[in-house]
Amino acid sequence: MTTQPIPSGPPAYCPVPSGPYVVPASLGLDGGLDRIDFSLILPTFQEASNIRSTLAVVSETLRGVAGLRFEIIVVDDNSPDGTAQLALDQSATLPEVRVIRRTEEAGLATAVIRGWQAARGEILAVMDADLQHPPATLTQLVQAIRTGSDLAVASRHVEEGGVSDWSLARRIVSRTAQLIGLTLLPEVVGRVSDPMSGYFMLQRRVIAGKHLNPTGYKILIEVLARGSAGKVAEFGYVFRERQEGQSKVSAAIYLQYVQHLLRLRLVLLQQSRFVRFCLVGLSGVAVDMLILFLLSDPKMLALGLTRSKIVAAEAAIVNNFLWNDAWTFSDLIGTKDSLRKKFHRFLKFNAICFMGLVLSVALLNIQFNWLGMNRYVANAIAILAATFWNYQVNRSMGWRSSS
Ligand code: GDD
Ligand code: MN
Repeated sequence: MTTQPIPSGPPAYCPVPSGPYVVPASLGLDGGLDRIDFSLILPTFQEASNIRSTLAVVSETLRGVAGLRFEIIVVDDNSPDGTAQLALDQSATLPEVRVIRRTEEAGLATAVIRGWQAARGEILAVMDADLQHPPATLTQLVQAIRTGSDLAVASRHVEEGGVSDWSLARRIVSRTAQLIGLTLLPEVVGRVSDPMSGYFMLQRRVIAGKHLNPTGYKILIEVLARGSAGKVAEFGYVFRERQEGQSKVSAAIYLQYVQHLLRLRLVLLQQSRFVRFCLVGLSGVAVDMLILFLLSDPKMLALGLTRSKIVAAEAAIVNNFLWNDAWTFSDLIGTKDSLRKKFHRFLKFNAICFMGLVLSVALLNIQFNWLGMNRYVANAIAILAATFWNYQVNRSMGWRSSS
């Protein structure tokens, strides 16, 4: 990562971080820059009428927090009203202020992440630059992070929080958006009372090294879904009316929000080991059924049931092993994997599944020959029983980080 040289002469814009949206864990503080504690990002677009007072009040508030070495990074998307230049001019008298002016990219969420990528602080924060977020809350949020919270969120929906005089329509839209979020992504959106908040801070390690993929406005949801925040604190604040300038929220932003939720839903599903295990299991069922049909069905080869079932089940075992090894448990397999180790794991998996295989052959025979059940219904039940067995045993004996 490139760091800014020690400023000399008139202030200049900071370089815009590029590449994937990944916040580095190590700060790479060469170039004689001092380590600081806290980096606040102020994303701006067309905030010429607000930026000066925001920078003045925010830096004053942060100076009032005992022992806090901070920086404020304005990330502007080349606003035609000259917001970036105004911030840069002000940084001559406010040395904590740095300004990034983007020309190649745009959008609130990516602005925040680019800001965090350039940040030097251990604590990363974001707030709006239009004074709708009261700066006084910064003090409470910093305090929470300093006393062990991973994430501290300013919320409109806890005690002492609220919206000043929003129309009924805007309140309904805001609450509906939250409800959609709760439906699609309950384990993420349900963790905080105000998942739409654009005013929060976190420990760098919560998102360091994680690939963020932000769109639209809802960066907190991205942080909650992809980051590793354990302890979360919330503080109420009243969302003030805009005094100057205009909100950039539009219908397109709501559409982006729903797309964002759906994408995260898919990511989290595919991250769930249990879901992957089940999908692999389903593919195994298909393999088992197909081979049983080809070998034993009177319309096909009409071989004996037991023989056919053993081949079918073994084929499913091989299928499941390959998929589980390459996908479900891939993260548990060390970097020094070899074909020999893989084969070893396969033998172990096969040994564990052997009892399941015996169980399913026996069950299939009992149901088909004695109870006169349909062969495929009987096989489905046999597979279910074997799966239950295999999952229990594999969980305690199969893929482990040591194997
Ligand atoms: N760099 C950049 N690029 N900044 C942007 C962009 C953009 O495309 N769009 C908006 N901003 C900046 C604005 O200048 C402002 O500082 C901040 O992001 C919020 O934008 P507003 O347009 O004022 O949004 P809002 O007031 O309707 O909603 C905000 O507050 C809500 C409540 O906390 C946002 O932060 C929402 O995400 C949040 O839910
Ligand atoms: Mn605003």
